[in-house]
Amino acid sequence: MSASSTQITIEPLGRTFGAAIGNVDLSRALDDVTFAEIEAAFAKWSVIVFRDQKITPDDQVRFARRFGDLEINAFEKHALEGYSGVLKISNIVEDGKPLGYADAGSFWHTDMSYTKTPPRLTMLYALEVPLNADGTPKGDTWFASAVDAYDALDDATKRTIDGRTATHFFGAKKRGVKKPVQVTQEQLDKNPPVDHPIARTHPVSDRKAIYVTADECTGISGLPETEALRLLKQLSDHVVKPEFQYHHKWQVGDVLMWDNCAVQHVVHRDYDFPPDRRMMHRVTVNGSVPF
Ligand code: OGA
Ligand code: MN
Repeated sequence: MSASSTQITIEPLGRTFGAAIGNVDLSRALDDVTFAEIEAAFAKWSVIVFRDQKITPDDQVRFARRFGDLEINAFEKHALEGYSGVLKISNIVEDGKPLGYADAGSFWHTDMSYTKTPPRLTMLYALEVPLNADGTPKGDTWFASAVDAYDALDDATKRTIDGRTATHFFGAKKRGVKKPVQVTQEQLDKNPPVDHPIARTHPVSDRKAIYVTADECTGISGLPETEALRLLKQLSDHVVKPEFQYHHKWQVGDVLMWDNCAVQHVVHRDYDFPPDRRMMHRVTVNGSVPF
């Protein structure tokens, strides 16, 4: 049966967001109808996963390109050979050499918010997933809905943040991280501080989301530093409350994508190499200026 004659299936995973999409084979070019269904599901569910996929880097790039152009990451030295847009996310070390970027997602964040046009989406393809002795996966990725979190704010807080911007900085001090990644002067020069609205409007759903994180934001427009840092912490803590979270349990063959405007994420770091091997192929698709 060709993809054009079937409809995708949608199975909700989290309480208000996250869904598994079935009836799709990403190793094949998708027809426009199927792609439109997927794009609509993505706008609605914020985190979607296609299980049991067997795809090549070319397949992943072809699928991601349907959503837009690919971003080149600040850690592009971990790109897959021959694919500047595909980043290897891995904790595996072989012959003393890391096989990929090992520290992705060690604190709650939304991808590349320190850029003028943060990526619309990030997509991971799971090639190796570490397991517990009982066969359950390690290294879950935790997501938090920044739109649900915005909706739950009281009116006074909404009024305080409305119209204000926060400064996002690649080199911000990562308070929540034990061993922060060393960043180079070149990376800092390429990524100067940038301001984005604290309450960001989703370009497709029109819903508002809280767009700040404690570890990558350094200030708020019109507020003295102490007050700004206090509010940033309060808002960031609010977004990641348990009631706004969905924890993704990985299976080899998962192709999962998240909406960087609607959710924040962090990896649950309960694995270590050796013996735990985790390998993901990651692509990011470009976005627009937040408003
Ligand atoms: C990322 C990221 C988390 C993970 O790739 O942007 O944060 O679970 N990854 O690998
Ligand atoms: Mn990330």
